[in-house]
Parts: sequence; C-alpha cells; structure tokens
Amino acid sequence: MAARLVAKRLLEIRSALRPSPLIALSNGASSSRSFSSALNYHLESPDNKADMIWEFSKANMEKVKEIISHYPSNYKQSAVIPLLDLAQQQHGGWLPVSAMNAVAKIIEVAPIRVYEVATFYTMFNRAKVGKYHLLVCGTTPCMIRGSREIEDTLLKHLGVKRNEVTKDGMFCVGEMECMGCCVNAPMITVADYSKGSEGYTYNYYEDVTPKRVVEIVEMLRRGEAPPVGTQNPERIRSGPAGGNTTLLGEPKPPPCRDLDAC
Ligand code: FES
Repeated sequence: MAARLVAKRLLEIRSALRPSPLIALSNGASSSRSFSSALNYHLESPDNKADMIWEFSKANMEKVKEIISHYPSNYKQSAVIPLLDLAQQQHGGWLPVSAMNAVAKIIEVAPIRVYEVATFYTMFNRAKVGKYHLLVCGTTPCMIRGSREIEDTLLKHLGVKRNEVTKDGMFCVGEMECMGCCVNAPMITVADYSKGSEGYTYNYYEDVTPKRVVEIVEMLRRGEAPPVGTQNPERIRSGPAGGNTTLLGEPKPPPCRDLDAC
C-alpha cells in the first residue's frame, strides 16, 4: 500500500515537472525528465496530437495485411519498419505520433516499441517535410567533394533554413549520412511524396554541382522528373569521367592450373 502511494506521488511530481506543451512519447510509462532528451518527447501541435485518430487508408490496409503476412503470426512486431514507412508515405512524408500509435496497435506492441524505432532511424520524419524532401549527404567523401556548398546553395535558393519547409510546402532540405554512392560524390537524394504512397519514389542524384541542384529543384517544381543517377555527362554510372584510362583491352583469363603437376 505504502509502495503504491509512493509511486503515485512520484508520478504526480514527474508530471508537475514536465514542461506543459510536451507529453511523454511513451504514454506515461517513461523516463525521468532529467535523463530525457528531445527525442523522448513529442511536441503537441494542432496537426500532431497524441489523441488524434489516425488510420491507414483502405488501399493501404490491404498492403498492411500483405506486409504482416511475411512474418510469423507471433512475430508481427517485425513488420514495424515497413509499416512505419507506409504510414509515412500515406501521411505526406512524416509520422505524427497518432500514426505511430496506429502501427503499435496493429502489431500489438506497446507504443514505446514503435517510438524507439521511429526515433532511431533518420529516414523517419517526426515533423512535417516538403513534398520533396531533399537530403544532402554530409559524410566525408561527399563533404570533401563539396556537399557543404551544395547544401548552402539549396538553402539559399529555397530561402529556408535546414529542415524548414518552404512556404508553399514543396521543399525542405535536410542532411543524411553516407547513402552508399561515395564513388559519385557529392550526391543528394530526394524523397518524393508528391504522389502519396502510390507514387512514392526515393531518388539519388549523383555528381551534383551547385548549378545542377538548382536545376533539379526547378524541374521538380515544374512537375518534371529529372534523370536519376550521375549528373556528370562524361560519366556512365560510376565509371571514370571521359572513359576508361586503364584496362582498355579484353582482360586476360586467369592461367589454368596444371592439376596434373600437383
Ligand atoms: S559519403 Fe556521400 S554517399 Fe557516401
């Protein structure tokens, strides 16, 4: 009885200490304020409230069933990433806490299990993004090849700060770490939410220059589809600019081993 009273009192103290516009992401089952970071909290706003109703569309519900069918029935929770991804596509590129709660309900886990995933992976956005989410690779090879200049150009051209959405809701610029095509550094990727979850695409633009990224943005604004891959006309995919300088002939086959000599 005494333990229960103490626990109740602790909960009261904890909620009194919690800043008023914030609610704990874990629906009350969570960490103490002194050890929390921004990631442990969800900032309530008119379009992102914990008590909002969020549901998958009818068409996406079919996809949900299909995704879950890939896992054993007692491991439904393994579907958390594809389901969050689908929810994000349906919601125009970001995940309100109510969508995370809907996913938790479907896979039958505590909401905190879903928040843990959504806050860990940077491809899940927990605030509004533009219809075109431009992500500049900030890791060393791209940085050495001018990614800072690429980002500055994009921010200046769009008149926004990093992660801020343009007034028309079309664009925002963020940073990602290595996206695995360092041989074509610097590169950006564009998550395209303009056609909802049906037409969602995630496109790499490589060997970009400040001039080229502005052209890409303007093409997207006009509803065009810039060609993906290397933007350097002298390169074919990740081959050397201007063609090969070595290995020009047919490679010699490896010498056959004389098995009889062994
Ligand atoms: S460092 Fe940019 S893709 Fe690897």
